Amino acid sequence: VTEISRVKNIDRIIMGPNEVETWYFSPYPEEFTHSDAVYICQFCLEPYGSLRPFERHRQKCQMRHPPGNEIYRKNDLSFFEIDGRKQKHYCRNLCLLSKLFLDHKTLYYDVDPFMFYILTKNDDVGQNIIGYFSKEKQSAEEYNLACILTLPQNQRMGYGKVLIEFSYELSKIEKKAGSPEKPLSDLGLLSYRSYWSDIILEILYKHRGDILVSDIVEQSAICTEDVVHTLQALDMVKYYKGQYILCLSEKNIEYHEKNMRKSKIKIDPVELQ
Ligand code: COA
Ligand code: NA
Repeated sequence: VTEISRVKNIDRIIMGPNEVETWYFSPYPEEFTHSDAVYICQFCLEPYGSLRPFERHRQKCQMRHPPGNEIYRKNDLSFFEIDGRKQKHYCRNLCLLSKLFLDHKTLYYDVDPFMFYILTKNDDVGQNIIGYFSKEKQSAEEYNLACILTLPQNQRMGYGKVLIEFSYELSKIEKKAGSPEKPLSDLGLLSYRSYWSDIILEILYKHRGDILVSDIVEQSAICTEDVVHTLQALDMVKYYKGQYILCLSEKNIEYHEKNMRKSKIKIDPVELQ
């Protein structure tokens, strides 16, 4: 782990048809910082400081999808699972790329302890990276996600929540509730709060009869603390006859019914291998 608190050194990246302005410093080799843009291969994520070598690479590069195993596919979306220890080079390139959009002071050069889950959108050309999250192989804190990124060209289209949902589907398979690593960025927190509300409201909306916080935890794999926080934020915890009860108000129901009418991409757990 290296301390990084330097100014932005790369102005923009060019990746496939997208040209994107960067947000933060990332420890690319010195030579890249003299270039006006960093060219990144959309499939192998190899960075280039100038156009010519990049074009030569693109003509040769055979990759059409991320390395690792495709563990999910539905419609035009897939997830690839990559072991950081087995695909060090790809994962380091991914970390360098994602640091451009993450304000953390630390960057993990050591990718060995992590699994990487890459979300792709599939077309005739190949399976194109949309975003990813990383996950510690062993987490003492029961974190089920370390870093999450939707590439800026794909943001605000619902993919962040798809990534989050997938991380909880993995936790359900492990039969273990989880939580994202702290601190979360502002955008990370916004996305999580929205995801937690969606899921908890959905469970309560469908449920008939009594339900315990522990039932919600079990069904969602969202850890107790995050469930309780969300219930409080939604103003659903009431003190009644000497005990705390959960209560779904008209306002909650209205919000949820409106929310359900939005078109959303959902993970289909049946397709997860
Ligand atoms: N302003 C306001 N709301 C925003 C927002 C923004 N810039 N970006 C996302 N949101 C809200 C959306 O409205 C959505 O809520 P809704 O479903 O209730 O409308 C929710 O957050 C998720 O949006 P979604 O489109 O699924 O997320 P995304 O694909 O844009 O990805 C991040 C979200 C956090 C992954 C993305 O912003 C990102 O990669 N940020 C940089 C890296 C980072 O900060 N990661 C988290 C720390 S590890
Ligand atoms: Na984080």
